[in-house]
Amino acid sequence: MTHSRARLPVPRDRFVPSVVWLENPAGDGFTPVSRTDDEAGWRALVEADEPIVTQVDDGRAPPNGVGLRPSSSCSQPSLVAAMLEELDVRAGHRVLEIGTGTGWNAALLTERVGPRGRVVSVEVDSEVADRARIRLLRAGYSPLVVTGDGLAGHPPAAPYDRVVCTASVRRIPRAWIAQTRPGGKIVTPWGTDYGDDALTRWEVHEDGSASGRCGTDLAFMRLRDQRRDFLEPSEDEIEAADSTVTRRGGRELFEMISFAHASFTIGLRVPNCYVTVEDLDADHRNVELHDARSTSWARVELVRGLHPWTVRQLGPRRLWNEVDTAHRWWLSAGKPTPQQYELTVSPDGTHAVRLDTPTGPHRWSVAA
Ligand SMILES: C[S@@+](CC[C@H](N)C(=O)[O-])C[C@H]1O[C@@H](n2cnc3c(N)ncnc32)[C@H](O)[C@@H]1O
Repeated sequence: MTHSRARLPVPRDRFVPSVVWLENPAGDGFTPVSRTDDEAGWRALVEADEPIVTQVDDGRAPPNGVGLRPSSSCSQPSLVAAMLEELDVRAGHRVLEIGTGTGWNAALLTERVGPRGRVVSVEVDSEVADRARIRLLRAGYSPLVVTGDGLAGHPPAAPYDRVVCTASVRRIPRAWIAQTRPGGKIVTPWGTDYGDDALTRWEVHEDGSASGRCGTDLAFMRLRDQRRDFLEPSEDEIEAADSTVTRRGGRELFEMISFAHASFTIGLRVPNCYVTVEDLDADHRNVELHDARSTSWARVELVRGLHPWTVRQLGPRRLWNEVDTAHRWWLSAGKPTPQQYELTVSPDGTHAVRLDTPTGPHRWSVAA
């Protein structure tokens, strides 16, 4: 996804740590880049309109110096600008941020709210939070940085005019809604387990509910306890899996994994299913579906020039059949885009969607 380049009033080099992590060209891990050893390389990363990974594997020393999973980052500048615009922060606002990370966005929020406003930022990782506090102070900003689980918000400073989460969530926690004043807004990347997340903006209502709409797609790391998990069955397990074929073609498979097409709808209709795509070479691609909770897994093996494609399925769920059915539903509903859905969270925390189609409205709860 691309966002317009916007000028942000706080330079990010004051917040990016001297050791950052760069993805290996093969996509199999992250290796460190140190400012001390490679000032030009570090600066090129800081000046690019790209996210910078600032911690891997929750800060545990990576084996062989290679990190596997990014766990904290300094977000892409144009995306930060887009989120701030969506949040519509004004002078004097009280703002809660979840995911302090480097502290850069907390500094930008502090600039926006001015001396009459207040910014509270919650970070789950104590080392990340401590470093952010130091950088913020050095740069002349003093938001309150709280070490803790952002799912609980920060009740002592509530109510907030704005809540922004700089990591993706599957559920909008009731605490965030309870701590936002009626008419206030929550902006967060939100999505199901399935595909890309959408930038969503929610308005909080008097009765403790919230309603929202989707914007564009974005790739953000998940809050720690809402991460997605994938399965890696052994060769023997794959060999023993149910094997069928599908006559679905490349166009339909593309639609199933593409946010602008069916992936958002499929995620709303197929709970607890995560899709991954692996390009083995120019002619072979595997689309895999994972439900780590029920240990169900499926793979469609796309081979150029060899159709129909083999489908293998393991575990109690038949994930491919579920995704295939959801894709057919998307076609029958007139190919709705993510932006057509109206999103709601009821006071009891139920997440639901409503879609108006020419044949009438469809409304259903999104599985917890
Ligand atoms: C993309 S980074 C945030 C970027 C940050 N706003 C900045 O300006 O650099 C996401 C952050 O969320 C934090 N995080 C993950 N789960 C969390 C949780 N449950 N509560 C609070 N912070 C969390 C991560 O440790 C990470 O630092």
